[in-house]
Amino acid sequence: MCGIVGIAGTRDVAPVILDALRRLEYRGYDSAGIATLVDGHIDRRRSSGKLNKLGDVLHSRPLHGHTGIGHTRWATHGAPTETNAHPHASKRVAIVHNGIVENFRELRDELKAAGHTFESQTDSEVAVHLVTDYLDKGLSPSEAAQAAVRRLTGAYSLAMIFTDHDGLMIGARKGAPLAVGYGTTESYLGSDAFALAPFTNKVAYLEDGDVVVIKGPDITIYDSEGRPTNREVKTTSASAALVDKGGKKHFMAKEIHEQPEVIGHTLAHYLDPAGPVVQRQGVGLRGALSKASRLTISACGTAFYAGMVGKYWFEKLARLPVESDVASELRYRDVIYPKDGAALFVSQSGETADTLAALREAKAQGQTTIAIVNVAESSIAREADIVLPTFAGPEIGVASTKAFTCQLAALASFAIAAGVARGTLSEADEKRLCAQLLAAPRLVAEFLKQEPKIEQLGQEIAKATDVLYMGRGPSYPLALEGALKLKEISYIHAEGYAAGEMKHGPIALIDENVPVVVIAPHDALFEKTISNMQEVMARGGKVLLISDKEGIARAGDVWASIQVPDADPFLAPILYAIPVQLLSYYAAIAKGTDVDQPRNLAKSVTVE
Ligand code: AGP
Repeated sequence: MCGIVGIAGTRDVAPVILDALRRLEYRGYDSAGIATLVDGHIDRRRSSGKLNKLGDVLHSRPLHGHTGIGHTRWATHGAPTETNAHPHASKRVAIVHNGIVENFRELRDELKAAGHTFESQTDSEVAVHLVTDYLDKGLSPSEAAQAAVRRLTGAYSLAMIFTDHDGLMIGARKGAPLAVGYGTTESYLGSDAFALAPFTNKVAYLEDGDVVVIKGPDITIYDSEGRPTNREVKTTSASAALVDKGGKKHFMAKEIHEQPEVIGHTLAHYLDPAGPVVQRQGVGLRGALSKASRLTISACGTAFYAGMVGKYWFEKLARLPVESDVASELRYRDVIYPKDGAALFVSQSGETADTLAALREAKAQGQTTIAIVNVAESSIAREADIVLPTFAGPEIGVASTKAFTCQLAALASFAIAAGVARGTLSEADEKRLCAQLLAAPRLVAEFLKQEPKIEQLGQEIAKATDVLYMGRGPSYPLALEGALKLKEISYIHAEGYAAGEMKHGPIALIDENVPVVVIAPHDALFEKTISNMQEVMARGGKVLLISDKEGIARAGDVWASIQVPDADPFLAPILYAIPVQLLSYYAAIAKGTDVDQPRNLAKSVTVE
């Protein structure tokens, strides 16, 4: 997905847009560009590569003008070249686009037949020629923009500026977020509030089908029927301070070390330490859960693995039947939802297209929808019936770490609340489980002191070409998460397996060159997992065992081990996430990859 910024301003806006784009670089960073109006005419600077390269271009060829739009790209159609970089422009209009125009081929053929010449391989460029075509037919910029977006199918957001219309900027939203920023003498457009935080914290989010017409400080929003409408102007919490690395080498390192604090923030929202009990009002969904016949859990990537852990907790603590699937599958599966079911969606960004689509489908099927999100103003948060926020703060590193453990903290609180609501947990159970949860921040902080040892193990792991992870019960999703962390930032091939599945094929992969990370908290499945581990060792596999002191002592000789503080097995998924995060982080450093912005990825995937 891509980042959009626009300013209808009273100063040269290009340098300001560039700074704002830096706050969106986590959304995509394979090319970038800015367009402004200079004496009424469109002028552009674009570059492939990261924003620093665009900064160099602007330094050598400054761009003036008080009305401008900017874009940082994660390529969907067309290679990340300068030609394909946004803004795309004709002589009459310049446009930046986030999302996908699904009918761009037929529109491109139609517009080519009408005499329009295309320069790029992108889907986005059709919007330029479609708007231009309407302008050539005599429509005003507002009419042309509204007519054009009605022809576009897909999920997208757009921002555009027009020749000879200084101070005019038009935005459109259909499936991908677009925020309108209200200043005193200027107005703004941005993919999220975070990008606009240095300018204003007064933000309205467009709804699907909306078109906003900005003329300097004057803002008019039209709904999908073309009627003037109002969207709530909120005061956002997004910090104006550019998120920095807190003295660490990477955002990922900073965010791994923020976990004691942010897990604590999240738990404080859901648990009453005085009880300790789950806050009745904090998890105000007892009704949704006390009668639900089934809970469906869905998400993507790391968020899905958090949901998978939740499945074990809901089934064990609340005796609640759970169905789970990745959102990209669930949304197309023609799921048979129960009439009194609930559906839970987990998302850090709250903008992941597949997760949002799956939520909409579940809602259409009569499910009570619940969202665990880290961005309170996100699309998923706005469309769910019930929102359970996490308090991880902005997560900039593309690899999700603190958001994952905060999702687990919220899910654990939610599972306890469900057990209480359904009468499967006694008050004593509730107090015990909440007390265990409240120890998580301290235990995570205690574990982080072992970082130097894990740095060395990460360097060892970095020598491998294939790495396996395995675990049982709630440690199985952790094995999947550990493998994802390693492959997405170090580019080493890695797979996660249910430990009991190894003997059904994957054990054929084992030899002395394949490290196998065994996640074995001292729980009821410990002995079974150790048996699987010994099957691996019998075939020469290099086992890296992650367990507590007693578990490591009982497991015998292994290639390497990581000792996790003693804790109730209920806490294991949160606690054991930290070693797999650090292992992947140090393997990636040893490999010399871009830890915070790994190749081919983006922080939030708002396209299918
Ligand atoms: C996590 O390390 C990945 N970057 C990715 O799997 C991510 O978790 C997934 O895209 C879901 O994103 P979301 O939580 O913002 O919905």
